[in-house]
Amino acid sequence: MTKLMIIIGSVRPGRVGLPVAEWVTSVASADDRFEIDVVDLAELNLPMMDEPNHPRLRQYTKEHTKEWSARVDAADAFVFVAPEYNYSYGPALKNAIDFLHSEWFRKPLGVASYGGISGGTRGAAAIRATVAALGLVSTTANVEIPFIAKQIDDDGKFVPNERNELMLAHMLTEIAALDGALRPLRTSAA
Ligand SMILES: Cc1cc2nc3c(=O)[nH]c(=O)nc-3n(C[C@H](O)[C@H](O)[C@H](O)COP(=O)(O)O)c2cc1C
Repeated sequence: MTKLMIIIGSVRPGRVGLPVAEWVTSVASADDRFEIDVVDLAELNLPMMDEPNHPRLRQYTKEHTKEWSARVDAADAFVFVAPEYNYSYGPALKNAIDFLHSEWFRKPLGVASYGGISGGTRGAAAIRATVAALGLVSTTANVEIPFIAKQIDDDGKFVPNERNELMLAHMLTEIAALDGALRPLRTSAA
């Protein structure tokens, strides 16, 4: 079983990241290949990077860092639910990534991006560049949702279309396969 961490990458009041993440979580939770840990960065409430040492040293001085490190360490794979902000992704997600280092190493990552006309693809591309530095392995299949506001109903719920459902299914299958392939490499690196 793959321990899949789903990270809600937006923290602003009224964010649509929440309903999008609820959809991703409901699909992944119903899939017996995965055990789910949902991280709401608004709840996690990490301060801006406040560790004195480079995270690769793992000499963490703050309790919140030690807890975040243990939680990410326990995960086998990740889905980032990520809005596009100014052609990139959100600062809370960048901060949460930058806090740690080897905890992310050789683990698969899928991105469910959303935004305006581009479907959050520029944000997703920026995520891929960041995570390459950490040894996260990105899936080829990603969920990309353009004009996100049109898929939020009157109750604030995200309404997926057929393409969203298909891409999420592909992405989850790729994550499960990559986890199987990467797990022995993680063991040998440890
Ligand atoms: C500060 C800011 C910058 C944005 N920049 C972009 C952008 O560059 N491209 C885009 O497609 N949408 C952009 N948007 C629209 C967001 O993708 C959209 O509002 C989305 O709902 C934000 O996600 P959230 O509700 O989870 O915070 C931006 C929104 C905000 C608040």
